[in-house]
Amino acid sequence: MKRMITGSGSWSNSQAAYGEAWYWDKRYTIEAGGAPFDWYQKYPSLAPLLHLYIPLHHRVLVVGCGNSAFSEGMVNDGYSEVFNIDISSVVVEAMQKKYSSSQKLKYMKMDVRDMSAFEAGSFDAIVDKGTLDSMLCGHNSRENAAKMLEEVDRVLKDRGVYILVTYGAPNYRLRLLKNSCSWTIKLHVIDKLLSEETTERRAWDLTCPVPLNDDGISAEAALGNNPDVHYIYVCIKDESCRQNKKHEFTS
Ligand SMILES: C[S@@+](CC[C@H](N)C(=O)[O-])C[C@H]1O[C@@H](n2cnc3c(N)ncnc32)[C@H](O)[C@@H]1O
Repeated sequence: MKRMITGSGSWSNSQAAYGEAWYWDKRYTIEAGGAPFDWYQKYPSLAPLLHLYIPLHHRVLVVGCGNSAFSEGMVNDGYSEVFNIDISSVVVEAMQKKYSSSQKLKYMKMDVRDMSAFEAGSFDAIVDKGTLDSMLCGHNSRENAAKMLEEVDRVLKDRGVYILVTYGAPNYRLRLLKNSCSWTIKLHVIDKLLSEETTERRAWDLTCPVPLNDDGISAEAALGNNPDVHYIYVCIKDESCRQNKKHEFTS
């Protein structure tokens, strides 16, 4: 399956509405009763990377979960507690019903820009597959993205990890990530069009970080022009960077 290019996972004319709850409610109402859909990549393709950064006993939050089977894949693989939020009440109600017998999977309607229902430092890991990308479409995109990242940073523990799976290359995502929070950032990539079913060789080793300097030029040099990949930014919260930044401003 060509994710992002065909089927219900394509960025199309309605892109501008991707940051709006009404758009997703409408879409999930139309798709109700259908098969789960995973944007970009399914769990088995990304599992080796998650294993590197998220131990199985860690408390995980998936933001903008949609009706994807990703979190189910995580608990089937041994993850003990996966919280899921989405702005669409339609999809959250459907997922609550679907997983009502699971102790390990929890679904809540919540806007990722306001996660005040969660205390600071509630999670060891946050997974975002396509949600920051949605936020970056439509009105006030930069402001919405900044609010989201501020909340992600707040609800993560120190040394917690925010894993962002996106189509956005470093020249579009790196500054946004660096400006908003104090992270140590690693970049991984995965071929777009290969699925877990294929026997084709991957062009990139998912578990090896790509060299990443401050402006992302090193990654572009390593990957070449327009590589056919999804980017995975592994952002490790680092309170000591924040202290240093504060110190730079006050001294
Ligand atoms: C591109 S889909 C990705 C769905 C899923 N993560 C996946 O990988 O298949 C984006 C999801 O983000 C949700 N979303 C958009 N804005 C949101 C917000 N402000 N707060 C929480 N979820 C949001 C949408 O309802 C939608 O389910």
